[in-house]
Amino acid sequence: MIATDRTTSRIDLPMPFGWFQVLYSDELAKCESKPLEYFGQELVAFRTESGVAKVVDAYCPHMGAHLGYGIHENAGAGASVVGESIVCPFHGWQYNGEGQCTHIPYAKNMPPRVARGEKVLNSWHVREVNQCILVWYHPQGVEPLFEPVVVPEAALDNDEWGEMQTFEWDINTHMQEIGENAVDAVHFHYVHGTDEIPAEAKHEFDGYNRFGFLATRNPTPKGVVEGSIENASYGAGLAVIRFQGICDTLLLANLTPVSADKTRAMYAFIQKKVDGKTQKGGIGAAIIANICQQMEEDRIIWDRKKYYEKPLLCDGDGPFAKFRKWYGQFLIPAQQ
Ligand code: FES
Ligand SMILES: [Fe+2]
Repeated sequence: MIATDRTTSRIDLPMPFGWFQVLYSDELAKCESKPLEYFGQELVAFRTESGVAKVVDAYCPHMGAHLGYGIHENAGAGASVVGESIVCPFHGWQYNGEGQCTHIPYAKNMPPRVARGEKVLNSWHVREVNQCILVWYHPQGVEPLFEPVVVPEAALDNDEWGEMQTFEWDINTHMQEIGENAVDAVHFHYVHGTDEIPAEAKHEFDGYNRFGFLATRNPTPKGVVEGSIENASYGAGLAVIRFQGICDTLLLANLTPVSADKTRAMYAFIQKKVDGKTQKGGIGAAIIANICQQMEEDRIIWDRKKYYEKPLLCDGDGPFAKFRKWYGQFLIPAQQ
């Protein structure tokens, strides 16, 4: 008998490269810092006095203190931020978002690397769009290969669309398994209890992007309303889903690897205003509740399923092979 080890990883895939959400913009105030755990690493985000979001590795190059945890008046919060730099709680050294040491309060002679203005702390590429703070992750340290998508409905100053409603789940699986949901029409009937298997959706794979389109028929008291669901992925981490028909809803469905086999799903819903007002309750709330319910249902499968490189498929299954070929471009192993 072959012994099986239940602790062995169920999924042996590397983390994908791309742009990934680490916070919502409103979670990081000016001069605030926050510890982050993503990509199997400890990081710290801070917003400078001039308002720019920065992300650097968490451990101070001086003696290794974590920059994400403040002391004294900042105890329980992040380290303090002065001007454009974060201040290490241990001995007060300061670092800017480019990873340079900008100040050592008690040194008469700066260490040579500091004096030369060298980067002494790893810094991350950051973009702030769609009310989200995103970082670029690449396991081999390659510079950004594309820019994150800008979603007009999610602009803070877009008056036609309401406020964001956000939800978050930590799921014990590799994020490819979650993304694959988008091409799996059959599971909607079995996992989410839809009456029938939805009609075949259209799928397109285009470079770093992926698009899906599904026509929907929504039963209402006034009869069936025709609608659609458009779902698009911009790299492995950013997805935008637009539901049209009964209540126009936009969903930013962002996935970020906490580690290779743990994923944080950050879902932000925005609905079109009616008569200039954000909708509360009614059909709009029901749509959001239904999608959140689907996440709870999906995670029963995701938290436990094993990844098969060669699943046993039938003709009624979705375009998994095409999806995995597209996704595979993001799965680059870390440098040896
Ligand atoms: S460990 Fe950060 S200043 Fe000393
Ligand atoms: Fe699902």
